[in-house]
Amino acid sequence: MTILVTGAAGFIGSHLCRRLLNDGRQVVGVDSLNDYYDPDLKRARLQTLAGFDRFRFAQVDLAQSGALEAQVDKQTITHIVHLAAQAGVRYSLENPHAYAQSNLIGHLNMLEFARGAKALKHMAYASSSSVYGDRAGGPFVETDETRSPVSLYAATKLGGEMLSESYARLYGIALSGLRFFTVYGPWGRPDMAYWIFTEKILRGEPITLFSAGEMSRDFTYIDDITDGISRLLETDVPRRDGRAHEIYNLGNNTPNALMDLVAAVEAACGQEAQKIYAPRQAGDVSRTFASIDAAKAGFGYNPQTKIAEGIPRFVKWYRDFYQV
Ligand SMILES: NC(=O)c1ccc[n+]([C@@H]2O[C@H](COP(=O)([O-])OP(=O)(O)OC[C@H]3O[C@@H](n4cnc5c(N)ncnc54)[C@H](O)[C@@H]3O)[C@@H](O)[C@H]2O)c1
Repeated sequence: MTILVTGAAGFIGSHLCRRLLNDGRQVVGVDSLNDYYDPDLKRARLQTLAGFDRFRFAQVDLAQSGALEAQVDKQTITHIVHLAAQAGVRYSLENPHAYAQSNLIGHLNMLEFARGAKALKHMAYASSSSVYGDRAGGPFVETDETRSPVSLYAATKLGGEMLSESYARLYGIALSGLRFFTVYGPWGRPDMAYWIFTEKILRGEPITLFSAGEMSRDFTYIDDITDGISRLLETDVPRRDGRAHEIYNLGNNTPNALMDLVAAVEAACGQEAQKIYAPRQAGDVSRTFASIDAAKAGFGYNPQTKIAEGIPRFVKWYRDFYQV
């Protein structure tokens, strides 16, 4: 098993590489190391993988056609986990073209790579809970209609699912789309709420709560996600009606109010936050809530971590890493 992980210097990708290497796998990681957020954080994540001699890294921009083929011999790859993307809902209002480049062109380039990879057994790729749009209720099920994205980010993630569906039908490539639900943990992403709250609380600065704090999210701990992906790669996943392409939610199945997240960060930092309330931001959804029955039945996905355990682990990592 030689696994190509794209976005290997990213938050989820770097954790996944470590998990797969600890499982004894051969891993090829690629990433553009772009500057959407501090590239030094990405390099520091890669540094944690440098001790594994079964790990090889190449800097590649997947939006450049042929760039990956020039660095990685596709005939050696048996599995792909394609995580590289332009992430973030709010930035998609500012820089829409970055999303088209990485999430549409880059995704198509990965599918083309997969099409020519003769030893390839399975390609999993990152989609997002944002494809469910702005909905009430839940849990959200994979077969629910997803035709109302409220951000360009969500639209490009839906686009990735559509491109994948066509390649599965045309070429029979075994594909799994993974809809992640607000993933958090050590080595996390600096544009996400749990990170920003931690940074500001530790500096004694006020935090801004959009939508008067009335949002809820199905916060999912990073180790539960990497465990799920590792199980998926090891399982010959049953495909409904012989389909080559399946979609799975990877969430926690336990939505928490934004105020619960704030309380968990405050408790872990040992300080109460000064709070500023602001209107909902364009592109945000009010709620996410994953049904995880399909991933449980398909490959034994079994998230265990509540924010009361996971957030203190993030805050501890943050304080150690930044010495604050
Ligand atoms: N973290 C979450 O809560 C979450 C939720 C839903 C979906 N996702 C998806 O999961 C995946 C991983 O997210 P993450 O949180 O680790 O984000 P991240 O930004 O930390 O990681 C993505 C990595 O992809 C790289 N990248 C971007 N464009 C590239 C390109 N054109 N070529 C090569 N590399 C490129 C970036 O440099 C970055 O290191 C993404 O596809 C994201 O959309 C994440």
